[in-house]
Amino acid sequence: MDLKLLGHQIKAAKSIAILTGAGVSAESGVATFRGQDGLWENYSLEDVATPEGFRRNPELVWSFYNQRIRQRLSVKPNPGHHALSQLQKLVPQVTLITQNIDGLHQEAHCTDILEMHGNLMRVRCVRCRSKSDIDEPFKEALPRCDCGGLLRPDVVWFGEILDEKILQTCFEKSATCDVFLCIGTSSLVSPASTLAGLAKNNGAYTCEMNLEPTPNSHLMDLILTGKSGEILPKLISLLESLL
Ligand code: OAD
Repeated sequence: MDLKLLGHQIKAAKSIAILTGAGVSAESGVATFRGQDGLWENYSLEDVATPEGFRRNPELVWSFYNQRIRQRLSVKPNPGHHALSQLQKLVPQVTLITQNIDGLHQEAHCTDILEMHGNLMRVRCVRCRSKSDIDEPFKEALPRCDCGGLLRPDVVWFGEILDEKILQTCFEKSATCDVFLCIGTSSLVSPASTLAGLAKNNGAYTCEMNLEPTPNSHLMDLILTGKSGEILPKLISLLESLL
């Protein structure tokens, strides 16, 4: 019944914005950040996810990221990722705003993706700032650019500023959408966590899909409790019958 409410809102919507977080990739086997076995439970965020940590000990940061790259290469998109890709084919104007850096939305053939926190499979040079894609972990403890500068993961660390253009588009899409979906995010990290409020204040129908309540749950018109990899495929089946 609840899913039907969302289905009708999606059917009537002219544009939809979807914010995804680590929970969407959890069923692929990618660790989330918080909660039991979360990445930040087992690693010090200050050591491996801040510019100061990288300056202090780049080898440690690279050993952490090489491990994440290795793990990323061993997983595949799950039914939740595939359902989002189907949704983009079923209805027009679906923007996917993701905090995830794993590229699993792309692998599931999603389009219109705004990566707020960068991409694990891309590096940039701290000296010449050139960027390049990678397809395997680095063998050397400290990878270097052709110019000799140190390479770093092209991801946003704590204390760093997000790409201005991407962020602006995230704000615009959230402020102008008719339906805003918040899927698999703890809504604890700003500015991503502010997008739901922006959408709500501008009249969007808001829906959260998560295993548990979040600090943004009070902003939601609808809360769907459960795994995104199970709920999203059901939503697609429903939409196929509605559209
Ligand atoms: P979190 O680890 O903070 O939260 C994951 C959320 O997903 C939790 O609310 C879980 O309840 C939910 N969840 C887990 N499995 C799920 C499933 N199968 N279906 C639906 N929901 C599920 O991850 P994010 O909110 O993405 O930033 O974290 C935000 C940012 O904090 C990350 O992008 C990262 C991190 O520090 C940076 O590294 C800059």
